[in-house]
Amino acid sequence: MESILRFLFALHGHSRAAFGFCQLSGLGPHLRGMTTRSKTSAGSRELPALSGSLKKLAHEAEHCRNCDLWRNATQTVFGEGDPHASIMLVGEQPGDQEDLRGEPFVGPSGKLLRNTLEEAGIDLKKVYFTNAVKHFKFEPRGKRRIHKKTSGGEIAACRPWLDAEIAALKPELIVCLGATAAQGLLGRAFRVTQHRGELLESSLARYVMATVHPSSILRAPDEEARHEQQAEFLADFKKIAALKL
Ligand code: URA
Ligand code: SF4
Repeated sequence: MESILRFLFALHGHSRAAFGFCQLSGLGPHLRGMTTRSKTSAGSRELPALSGSLKKLAHEAEHCRNCDLWRNATQTVFGEGDPHASIMLVGEQPGDQEDLRGEPFVGPSGKLLRNTLEEAGIDLKKVYFTNAVKHFKFEPRGKRRIHKKTSGGEIAACRPWLDAEIAALKPELIVCLGATAAQGLLGRAFRVTQHRGELLESSLARYVMATVHPSSILRAPDEEARHEQQAEFLADFKKIAALKL
């Protein structure tokens, strides 16, 4: 309930006339039926409210056992970046390489993301990278570990860490990369396809934007589609760069 109230408040609470700013009041119908923050799955507990510096939080999260994902993963992959960053990027979960290195967005989709940010003129040093879920969820397939989609319960179990990161960083803009991050933060009725690239009002930060996950670009069916999707992704980040946060 709390998250839907926060979202509703965010939608109607205040208006702002900023460059390219999009009021979300038209979202009304889509809010109906929107579920509250997903219930924690069996085997996971509600973490107490977490607070403290990002460094302290990262250290504490190393020992998190709040859902079962820690069991098969190598390590917790906490958020990383400038503790004074004005932009927070939120992905779904660490991938294979992130799990091994303990850093977010260092694998193939991370490279695509970082290159896009740089091309848009966003200083990587001013960005904080994190994920909705901090442990890698996978299925072994031969020698490979294949990404497995996180459940609502796992996202809910990990949410206190994300909330604590937002509280510690106080970013001006939160960018949700893909539907998992967007629905985790904005509610399950949120559709990236409908609101992609819009600057939304939210109580989470001055602005929230949702766009696709960079891995979807890597999965494009052919070169032409990939180019097109890459150009749209770049356009989203150019819009962000123009905010000069
Ligand atoms: N994909 C994500 O969502 N997060 C990462 O850290 C890496 C890949
Ligand atoms: Fe804790 Fe999140 Fe890891 Fe689950 S995924 S054990 S909630 S840090």
